[in-house]
Amino acid sequence: MVIKKSKATNPSWGGRFEDSVNKLAVSYTSSLDQDKRMYQEDIVGSMKYAQALKEARVITANDYSKILKGLKTIQKEIESGKFEWKEQLEDVHMNIESALQRKAGNAAKKLHTGRSRNDQVSTDLRLVVLKSIDEISNLISKVQGSIVAKAKKHHSDLMPGFTHLQLAQPVTFGHHLMAWYEMLNRDFSRLQDTKKRASSMPLGSGALSGNRYKLDRKLLAKRLSFDRISNNSIDAVSDRDFSLELLSTISILGVHLSRINEELIIWSSSQFNYIDLPEEFCTGSSIMPQKKNPDVSELMRGGSARTMSNLMGLLVLMKGLPLAYNRDMQEDKRFIFDSLDYSNSSLELLALMIKGMSVNTKKMKQDCELGHITATELADYLVLKGLAFRKAHELVGKIVAHADKQKKQIFELNLKELKKYSKLIEKDAMNLIKPEEAIRNKDSIGGTSPKQVLRQINKAKRELSSRR
Ligand code: ARG
Repeated sequence: MVIKKSKATNPSWGGRFEDSVNKLAVSYTSSLDQDKRMYQEDIVGSMKYAQALKEARVITANDYSKILKGLKTIQKEIESGKFEWKEQLEDVHMNIESALQRKAGNAAKKLHTGRSRNDQVSTDLRLVVLKSIDEISNLISKVQGSIVAKAKKHHSDLMPGFTHLQLAQPVTFGHHLMAWYEMLNRDFSRLQDTKKRASSMPLGSGALSGNRYKLDRKLLAKRLSFDRISNNSIDAVSDRDFSLELLSTISILGVHLSRINEELIIWSSSQFNYIDLPEEFCTGSSIMPQKKNPDVSELMRGGSARTMSNLMGLLVLMKGLPLAYNRDMQEDKRFIFDSLDYSNSSLELLALMIKGMSVNTKKMKQDCELGHITATELADYLVLKGLAFRKAHELVGKIVAHADKQKKQIFELNLKELKKYSKLIEKDAMNLIKPEEAIRNKDSIGGTSPKQVLRQINKAKRELSSRR
């Protein structure tokens, strides 16, 4: 019998095809522009898979060494830019496999035994996610390191604390910075948590039903640094929860980065003038010569929107798919890589910006003399003298109204004036309502007293050094 040669575009699956695929359809179905970023994971996965095939006596030692050698050469070619990527070969997996066939001949044709691109892509992607989690975690620690260093320097420097963006109570600048530290700490721990569930190896699941080649999956998982193997082959190739978790974790990180940058933007405005961002992270205006705009911060705030829409995109992509693999899932990489690019470059920049910003402690201190910022302190004083808090609150409210009429701050009123509102107010109250004194008294754990801020800083330092 004469076997008619297939005209299919792709030799890996072309056996049943007599016609070549429409040119537009070829580029429409190709994911190469995205997934070539996974070449390293794909190559390592193939190397270890070939080893497992050899150990299960599916391929010979000779085949294995040819495959290994070929894959090493391909890796070098990709890294030196010599590798010729072909869009018509659809994706990274088939580009590498087809190049391997040119290098290792028949041996290469055995590599895909028992394997499907369905378990292959799921394995590659999990390896990418696991590696990225480590990278992002390290970068978060780097930002936290910059925060801790700045916080230490300013652990006792006054700053007005805000609620509703209105002056609320005095805090220290170091205290505020350490709030950022805690936000990022939760991101760090969410990533570690995501890692635990992502670390399950799908390889060996085949297209969906498993494989018949008696591969030692547990050993394979160990060699690829997975914690364990997947339990159900249908689930293994269908599941993208690990990507959803990563994207939701990055979205929350995006919320934090956005809020932090929002503060940097407000603080660096002329009206606030609390900080000065390094020029290298700002740009000018093409019309207004005086401008120094915090563009990097603005784009970090704006770019976080992408992380949220990427999560939304992947959720919507997955929600209606029947088990097991569907080609729709190829779209996942766009969302994942875009969020990874955002988080990695943002964290890298933020660490430098925090390190390089200069802090105007004088202006922050001055602002603590506005807005009757220690009114709560006066109420607390009256409570300690026996008044119920609600009563004290009302009374101090009246004092504030009186001071406003006089165009004064409450600490500028004299004792005689204050006594008119309550006989409980004595000379010592005058000292207590000074911002410096107010912060010293907030000595609860986590509070703003310089002693407590130092305590937070020391805890943070221990945490950071335990990660190294
Ligand atoms: N490029 C595909 C993806 O990223 C690989 C898996 C293709 N599997 C298939 N059966 N066509 O999802």
